[in-house]
Amino acid sequence: MSEFYGIDLGTTYSCIARINSDDIVEVIQVKGSLFTPSAVAFDDNNQLIVGQAAKKNITNDAKNTVVLIKREMSNLDYKRTINGKTYDPVDISSFILKELVDEANKKLANEEGLPPIYDVVITVPAYFGTIECERTKEAGERAGLNVLKLISEPTAAALSYGRKQKSNKTLLVYDLGGGTFDVSILKFQNYIADTIACDGDHHLGGADWDKAIVDFAMDKINASFNSLSPEEQGMLMQAAEEAKITLSNSESTTLTFSCKGLQNIKITRSEFESITARLLNDTMSIVDRALDRANKTISEIDEVILVGGSCYMPMVKEAVDKKFGKPSKLVDPNLAVAKGAALYASQNDKGYVDGGITFGNDKGSRGYGMYVWSDKFNKFVIQTLINRNDDKVIRNEQYFSTLNDGQTRINFRFYEYESDENYLDVNEDWELKGKENYIDWGHPVPKGTPVKIISSRDSNGIVKVFAECQGATGEFVIVC
Ligand SMILES: Nc1ncnc2c1ncn2[C@@H]1O[C@H](COP(=O)(O)OP(=O)(O)OP(=O)(O)O)[C@@H](O)[C@H]1O
Ligand SMILES: [Mg+2]
Repeated sequence: MSEFYGIDLGTTYSCIARINSDDIVEVIQVKGSLFTPSAVAFDDNNQLIVGQAAKKNITNDAKNTVVLIKREMSNLDYKRTINGKTYDPVDISSFILKELVDEANKKLANEEGLPPIYDVVITVPAYFGTIECERTKEAGERAGLNVLKLISEPTAAALSYGRKQKSNKTLLVYDLGGGTFDVSILKFQNYIADTIACDGDHHLGGADWDKAIVDFAMDKINASFNSLSPEEQGMLMQAAEEAKITLSNSESTTLTFSCKGLQNIKITRSEFESITARLLNDTMSIVDRALDRANKTISEIDEVILVGGSCYMPMVKEAVDKKFGKPSKLVDPNLAVAKGAALYASQNDKGYVDGGITFGNDKGSRGYGMYVWSDKFNKFVIQTLINRNDDKVIRNEQYFSTLNDGQTRINFRFYEYESDENYLDVNEDWELKGKENYIDWGHPVPKGTPVKIISSRDSNGIVKVFAECQGATGEFVIVC
């Protein structure tokens, strides 16, 4: 039988799961652990180190260590030069993926004589834009893998949770990981799970809770984080993460680190909750936005599931339960995403998951629009062609008209944005997409001549616009 693998490439921890020969989904241990820190380093001999040892390396050799690389996936300027060689986020991510796969291969070849892993499904935050998705896929390819599909992390978690769910329901996934926050609202009906809305922030996660502890400690000793050496900063961030994890089970803990001598700073859970309340509030505002977008009220959500390691913090469950007026479920917080990815890989092959639900419609997370003259606003605006909350696979047909008498061509400008508006002012937050686009029919036509625009997005997220006027046509790839 074929093997099915799913990889959760996390901001702080990554894992790889599979459907085993008994058709059971399991996370594969890598060097004895279910999670591998998403950290990459190079030692004195320029040997690559990935995982726990690399995470530790930041405390003695920060300049040769990279952590939280997923946060840089959209940053085309981000580069790290280590021992004279320059790496981009795609390279660093590919090293993490390769480590997971190489270690899993060793284990599976030894224990079960299985062939090397090749086909994989990789997860990405629901709120990743096109660039981050493309770069994640490229990282998989650089690691020598065939990326069958990228699927969204909360959807993967819902698939893992919903596998045995028989009833029709509306489910909200609250996914607070190490670096990103995602909310997805899914409708389970007749064994099909459709995503009806998603929202998120890919700079909001456990690392921000760690940083709040760091700031608290620095305040106590009247010192500035930036005055610390990169190694001291790394040590302090790790001590803060340990303190945070301890506070999930204890009422107080002591943070030990060196800055102006050895420091021991006590922090209680209630102090921790108060310095991070604003972060928790930010997640709740995003939940509200997702509900709005799904056109659902709180009472219409049948179940809330909590995914992502940061949901172990008691404040998260308390706040979510209070908001929804019923208990949420903590679902395999750090493993559900990888398991869902493996399930999806098997579904892709068989068309179904045994005894479980099938993944249906997905939503896009960005809007696309065209620069047009608006009589209504008496100025140029961006008019939406594909709405941010439209189904992922979509085809829209719209009619526009030429602006001036005697026009022989039209130049097009397309934009990508995170807004639900139908009309937007041009501003620097919206990204101009595609190259210079135009159609040219070569003879003058009167003002008001019809222009047909068909915009579409396929299941791989490729967005195209087809334009037609006076028999002249053009098809423009906005996002590929
Ligand atoms: N018991 C715990 N209490 C509090 N936080 C925890 C606990 N266990 C893990 N975490 C935190 O959970 C985060 C890791 O969770 P997870 O593995 O789901 O995230 P990730 O996949 O690395 O990130 P992302 O999904 O945002 O890309 C880290 O910030 C870690 O410190
Ligand atoms: Mg994650």
